[in-house]
Amino acid sequence: LRIGVLVSGRGSNLQAIIDSIEEGKLNASIELVISDNPKALALERCKKHNLKSEIVERKNFSSKEDFEKAIASKLKDKGVELVVLAGFMRILSNTFLSHFPNRVINIHPSLIPAFQGLNAQRQAIEFGAKFSGCTVHVVDESVDGGPVIVQAVVPVLPEDNEETLSRRILSYEHRVLPQAIQWFSEGRVSMKGRLLVIEGAKY
Ligand code: GRF
Repeated sequence: LRIGVLVSGRGSNLQAIIDSIEEGKLNASIELVISDNPKALALERCKKHNLKSEIVERKNFSSKEDFEKAIASKLKDKGVELVVLAGFMRILSNTFLSHFPNRVINIHPSLIPAFQGLNAQRQAIEFGAKFSGCTVHVVDESVDGGPVIVQAVVPVLPEDNEETLSRRILSYEHRVLPQAIQWFSEGRVSMKGRLLVIEGAKY
């Protein structure tokens, strides 16, 4: 499966994808990594692993539409079949999504529909949730709200702060994101109305 990965920062989820591919657990190839942030640590990871990367900054485009079209055409040029948002900090509109129908996925650090948007881990602590986790979902125009592919649950412990909870959730992000991509690679993902079905999934 030819994938493109969109990043804005640290890139630990990108690293988890790279590692899963290198370990032979994920049957996919990273055709292109695009960062909207020239300082993203994710770009260093690309250099280290000889991955093609490009910086596409919003400020170099007069409209959001042009920015999104530029990203979509770079991914199309590389024959990308699945777009993975791995810490990409921008909301994509239908201008972009229409190029990859049901083929843009995102990792979010909560059990959606709880705690959508920014600082999901802090939201979980401030709400007093006793469990949180992470979700890989298909991206639609709702922010952090599209059809769920896979979720992992972690406890929120009384002594947790934002950092310790984020770390616990992140270790599961790094497992479920490559897993979700592998399911696409095996052709097991389909839509039933607005619900997403994984053929033969065992949880
Ligand atoms: C992760 O917590 C992810 O769930 C959220 O942004 C963070 C990205 O981390 N969407 P990284 O850049 O993959 O290390």
